[in-house]
Amino acid sequence: MDQLTLIVKSMPENESLVRSLIGAYAARKNPNIEVINDIKTAVSEALSNSIIHGYSDDATKDIHIDAELADDALTVSIRDFGVGIADIKKATSGFFTTKPELEHSGLGFTIMQAFMDSVDVNSKINEGTTITMKKRLV
Ligand SMILES: Nc1ncnc2c1ncn2[C@@H]1O[C@H](COP(=O)(O)OP(=O)(O)OP(=O)(O)O)[C@@H](O)[C@H]1O
Ligand SMILES: [Mg+2]
Repeated sequence: MDQLTLIVKSMPENESLVRSLIGAYAARKNPNIEVINDIKTAVSEALSNSIIHGYSDDATKDIHIDAELADDALTVSIRDFGVGIADIKKATSGFFTTKPELEHSGLGFTIMQAFMDSVDVNSKINEGTTITMKKRLV
């Protein structure tokens, strides 16, 4: 099986690192550039949510990333062990944000859903959040 696991600290610098790494990983299957860019954008949104919301910018915390290439598709999951999401339905509906003062528009999940084939949200209060996304590559 072709799998990849990363554990990174909850720092903004790692958002761009992981975004590029997962983009490069997906590129093994030679998808077109738009597909790679969609994946990179969605991965960024999930990571920034873990950093900003899950961990309130505490850079000592860990984010786990698991990716797999199988059946010409990429599956990527981004997991934090932070505060969790109280109401997943509300959180994933467009324009909902709990940090409006930081100029967040509440569109992260909308972007993930628009750019990936599937987006799965698993979350428990005070235990953390896992976002699992899938995208066909060919
Ligand atoms: N990993 C997470 N841990 C805890 N809460 C989260 C997490 N991800 C998302 N949320 C909650 O879901 C809400 C919606 O997330 P979404 O990414 O759609 O918007 P946003 O991050 O608030 O704004 P934007 O992404 O447009 O900057 C967040 O405001 C936050 O309350
Ligand atoms: Mg967001």
